[in-house]
Formats: sequence, C-alpha cells, structure tokens
Amino acid sequence: MQDSINQTFHSHFSTTPLLAFAPGRINLIGEHTDYQEGFVFPAAVNQGIWVGIQKNELNACRIYSIDFNQEFTFELDFISPKKGHWATYAMGMCALLKQAGYSVTGFDMVIGGDIPVGSGLSSSAALSVAIGTAISGLFDFQIPKKNIALYAQKSEHLYAGVNCGIMDPYASAFGVKDKALLLDCRSNTHEEIPVALGDFSLILINSKVKHSLADSAYNKRRASCEESVKIVQSAFPDIKTLRDLSVSDLPKVERLLSPALFPKAKHVITECHRVHEAANALKSGDLENFGSLLKASHQSLSQDFEVSCPELDFLAEESWKLKGVLGSRMMGGGFGGCTINLIQKSETELFQDQIKSSYVKQFGISPGFIPVKIGSGTQLV
Ligand code: GLA
Repeated sequence: MQDSINQTFHSHFSTTPLLAFAPGRINLIGEHTDYQEGFVFPAAVNQGIWVGIQKNELNACRIYSIDFNQEFTFELDFISPKKGHWATYAMGMCALLKQAGYSVTGFDMVIGGDIPVGSGLSSSAALSVAIGTAISGLFDFQIPKKNIALYAQKSEHLYAGVNCGIMDPYASAFGVKDKALLLDCRSNTHEEIPVALGDFSLILINSKVKHSLADSAYNKRRASCEESVKIVQSAFPDIKTLRDLSVSDLPKVERLLSPALFPKAKHVITECHRVHEAANALKSGDLENFGSLLKASHQSLSQDFEVSCPELDFLAEESWKLKGVLGSRMMGGGFGGCTINLIQKSETELFQDQIKSSYVKQFGISPGFIPVKIGSGTQLV
C-alpha cells in the first residue's frame, strides 16, 4: 500500500510525500454504549488507511483518492464539506483544525487503504485519524492523539451527519498490537488488556449488507437514550447518562420508562456491565465466559436495542451452533457489516465452509471472512 501511495503521489504531484497510517477497528464487546459515556472494548486491526501528504504553494488542497480514482480540489478559505462525498473527511478535518487555530496551508494528498468498504471496520474514522496525523506531522503541529480522535468524531457529526461516539477514532488513534482497549467514554481514558486467546482466534464474517437507513436509525437510537435519561432523572437526579445506572436499578427504571424506551435503556445498562465482565474474563483466560458474553451482547442488540438485521442474526445464530465456536455477535453500529466470532483455530476451516454454504443458501450472498490481527494505532510511517 505504501508503495502505491508513493507512486501515485509521484505521478500526480511530482514529489515525495510524508506517509501516515491509521487502522480500522474491531470491537470485542460494548456496542452502542459510547455515546452514553459508557464502556467499550475495541482494538485496532492491521488494516487501515494510508495517506501521503506534501505542502504545495497554493492556498488549496488537492486530494487524490486511489479507491475512487478521482482528484478533488478545495480552497482553504472556502471549505464546504458535503455529506456523502469521499473528500468530506479531508475537508472536515481541515475545517476543524483551522477553527482550532492551527495554521493549515495548502497541501497535496493521496489516500488509499485496505479496509473492506462497508464491513463495519470504521474506515471513515481511520480516514479522519490518518488525515489528522498526516496534517499534524506535515506542519509539526504535534496535535495530541486524543484531540485528533475528538476532531474526527466532530467531523463525523458536523459533516457526515452521524452522531457517533468516540470509540472508533479513539481505537484508531490509540490501538496497541495484540491488546484491546478497555475504554471509559466519559473520561476518554483506557486500560490496555492483552488479547491472549491460546487455541482460539477471532474471525470476522462480513455479511456484505449495509442497510441504507443505518445512519438515521443510529441517530434515532442515540436520541432515544437521551430521552430515557431525561425521564429517569426524575427518580435518579444524580445521573448524567445511562452509564450511571447499574443492573440492580433496572426494575425501577422499567417503571419509569415506556415499553418502547425501556429495552433500549436496558441494553446500554447491561452492555456496560458485560464489558467489565468480558475484560475480567479475558484477564483470567476464561474464554468460555467471554464467549457467552458475546452471545448475550448479540441478543441484547438484536432484541432490545433493535439494531441487528436478518443477515446478522442468521450469521450469529448459525455460528452459535457450530463446533469450536465460543461466541459470536454483530459488531459495530448494526444493520449490516460484520459479526465477530471466537473460534477454536482447528475448526476455522470447517466453520467457514459451513457458514458460507448456509448463508449463500439463505440469502444468495457469499460472506467474507476476515481473520483478526490486532495492530497498532495511528502513526507516521
Ligand atoms: C458506530 C459508531 C460508534 C459506536 C458503534 C456502536 O461504529 O461510530 O461510535 O457507537 O457504532 O457501538
């Protein structure tokens, strides 16, 4: 990938670029909790986005995307990011950095990557973080990683229209090889936990579906959690978000919320609890328990939070039945993308064959299989 960025940069801009990388992420457990200041358990993968960057003498940025085979130019004094355009992420990061007082001047950029698009590995967060790292490196701004993650999140809110949490850019920024990050999304601090799986490994199954309503459903789920908080505050005045409630509060919470709101709040509260249990299970090597928590997470996301879809439910449910599988669940925002599976290494081949044939039979789609390798966070290369 690096060679291809360098070559493309030479042929378009006739100079040698500075290179930056930011990885995609998986999430072991802790879904739809980050925007309630809860707990998540992501890790960076060793696939991601590479960005080549170099100053030009213009007051404009010329960006070339290898994937789209397109060049896009924007003036730094008139940045107008448009929802749905690939260059929006570059414009968004530039706009926010300028607003924050960084004197960004004209640059050329080439973007490439190896994250399967739409698989739920957070290619957009990786893109924004890579751009942040590249700009910071080029102009020697020394922007702290946490701020790069926060700008990436804000760019997603303001310019891509998704009110996402901090998990994806944070994992892309702070990932550590062979470790997962037990991240507290209130303090935005994390504990690194080794992912030592012995005879087992993690594998993603790409459902190859992405429902077009995913972004609006995501924003609706977030809004419903915020509505629940306002209602529950009548009886729990000290809470700021659902993260402040515990599993033992559920009976009281149920009396306060409508039948539509309660299951969603319940998901967030129980999922935060599962994150801690999963981290403890991983620390003590109790993979059976870790696997059952993945299953419980899926059931909660599917039945209570209602962000799964028939394809993801099918993949998880089929996986639970197969030999050597300790756990399986949908991963990420939902309505498509991947499931994450914990499986005995010796059973992986058979597992893939069985899932492939049953999924093709049911949906006529050939799923993708992505073995997980946990890699490092963003860096200049
Ligand atoms: C998406 C968002 C994250 C998080 C997950 C669900 O990936 O970008 O912030 O909310 O969904 O856990």
